[in-house]
Amino acid sequence: MSNNLNYWAVVPAAGVGQRMGSACPKQYLSLLGKPILQHTLEKLLQTNVQGVVVSLAAEDNYWSQLPTLPRVWTAPGGTERSDSVRHALEKLLTFPEVKPNDWVLVHDAARPCVRVSDIQNLMQTVADYPIGGLLANPVRDTMKRADTQNCVTETVSRQQLWHALTPQMFRLQLLYDALTTAAIQGYPVTDESQAIELMGYSPVLVSSHPDNIKITHPDDLALAALFLQQQNNV
Ligand code: CTP
Ligand code: MG
Repeated sequence: MSNNLNYWAVVPAAGVGQRMGSACPKQYLSLLGKPILQHTLEKLLQTNVQGVVVSLAAEDNYWSQLPTLPRVWTAPGGTERSDSVRHALEKLLTFPEVKPNDWVLVHDAARPCVRVSDIQNLMQTVADYPIGGLLANPVRDTMKRADTQNCVTETVSRQQLWHALTPQMFRLQLLYDALTTAAIQGYPVTDESQAIELMGYSPVLVSSHPDNIKITHPDDLALAALFLQQQNNV
């Protein structure tokens, strides 16, 4: 159905990594001897994406230390993650070979453990849906809502509750329009799906292997190293 369409990727990598609290932004921390961002880009480049646009902070002094990767371009980061994504989409829309209906996969720099097979499964599954979709995990723990004192007010059914992960895959122009509308309305969106949902659409959730963690806190580094080693040993 959409075989003649291209796939592109956007990697927001302009965050400061406040929760990680490290000397450099977390996407540049070394994981098994390579910066996290390099692992992430190499995963995406193993799929049939035509190219990747990486959003970088204006004060980024680390990107130039990464080896040059083929089919990778950069764009300016923004105040929020959604701004960084929007700027990368703007860059893509200047490419003469980019068509408004091409698919774009937005993937966090901080998720180097995503499996190439999961990205490919997302591409295949979402191709049958007009709007797009995202990798996600069904919630497995019992869920509680709490008051401001951390005391339980309610047990929330986990049925039909999912963790939203990345990549999130949408039509390029539609995603750009959705993020621009959210920005104009001052509506904070924490992922691409939320912007698309605000347009009244319903993206499809595609189950991911649970090792697709977002490196957030210092403890996550050891876990990520373990997951990558495990993936390389199979
Ligand atoms: N990101 C971005 N631009 C921003 C904020 C975040 O490109 N203004 C990117 C981050 O670099 C990261 C991804 O979005 O790859 C997911 O964000 P998160 O894990 O929250 O990273 P940080 O914002 O850097 O971390 P923290 O929230 O702890 O500061
Ligand atoms: Mg953040």
